Amino acid sequence: MSDTLESRILKVASSNNTEFPEFPDDKSDLPSDYEYDADQLEEEEEIVEEVSENELLKYLDNQENPLHIAQRLFYKEINTVASQASCPNWQLEKLSCRVLEDLYAHGWATVDGLIDLSTLKGARAEAEQLLKNDAFTRASALSENDPDDPFRDGTARDDWITWLDPKGENSKHLQEVLNFFSGPLHHDLSKMIRLQGRTEYQLAVYNPNMGARYERHRDAFPTDDPEDTHQRRVTAILYLNPGWTPGHGGELKIYGHSNGNGMTDAADRTVDPLLGRMVIFLSGVVDHAVLPANQQRFALTAWMR
Ligand code: OGA
Ligand code: MN
Repeated sequence: MSDTLESRILKVASSNNTEFPEFPDDKSDLPSDYEYDADQLEEEEEIVEEVSENELLKYLDNQENPLHIAQRLFYKEINTVASQASCPNWQLEKLSCRVLEDLYAHGWATVDGLIDLSTLKGARAEAEQLLKNDAFTRASALSENDPDDPFRDGTARDDWITWLDPKGENSKHLQEVLNFFSGPLHHDLSKMIRLQGRTEYQLAVYNPNMGARYERHRDAFPTDDPEDTHQRRVTAILYLNPGWTPGHGGELKIYGHSNGNGMTDAADRTVDPLLGRMVIFLSGVVDHAVLPANQQRFALTAWMR
């Protein structure tokens, strides 16, 4: 039942309501090898490259609701009363059943109070120290040359980032936070969702001077292919901003989606980037943006596969 992402994209390309070059349904329509000239092939490749990430996502979303695709990454459906009643058997260490039900039903959830206050405050202070030590790089400068990120426009984001490794050298409180992500958080999510691959950890800062923001985007293409090791499956973001108030800006905006079939969650929502608040979402499902920040804004993100 599960398609590879490649076959989904090819299906999109062959449907005729798109701007993709048309692919013949029947192989006999294909010109024989020697009728192909290299110039023509190159032209077709160029056309494909001009399709932006957002356009490709739109076509994929029209093919199938990305939430339904990502729900097949769960070991079981958790949208029935009976499945919810089985929650005590899920053997979760830290997350509540509600968080996993929300993740399944809506593609995202927020949760507070997972990490103690002194760890959070210490992690914020250590993040500021890393910034002073020039550990951060402008993220857009990286994505311009990132072969994994061919469509991402370098002007889309103003954050500065540094990658963290839970097995590397880290200061005390950031290490505790990383241990939480790679320990109980990964444990609980992987009880419910097929996660076998690599996790990335990124500390990001939005500097306030020019209203730093990150445009609407998605963190991965929707796929339910259990063999895929490339696409991110779950995004978990921990905010590190004590004393945040609405005037500080930098809210995470989560875009509602409607697929025309009635099962919609059409309202846009925002998440305040409060100290200790975590947002968890299915990476291939949720379109999101960071609204302009007027204060320095730190967040630690894990992308799980
Ligand atoms: C990202 C991102 C959101 C946030 O880094 O991909 O969307 O709230 N971050 O920091
Ligand atoms: Mn993102």
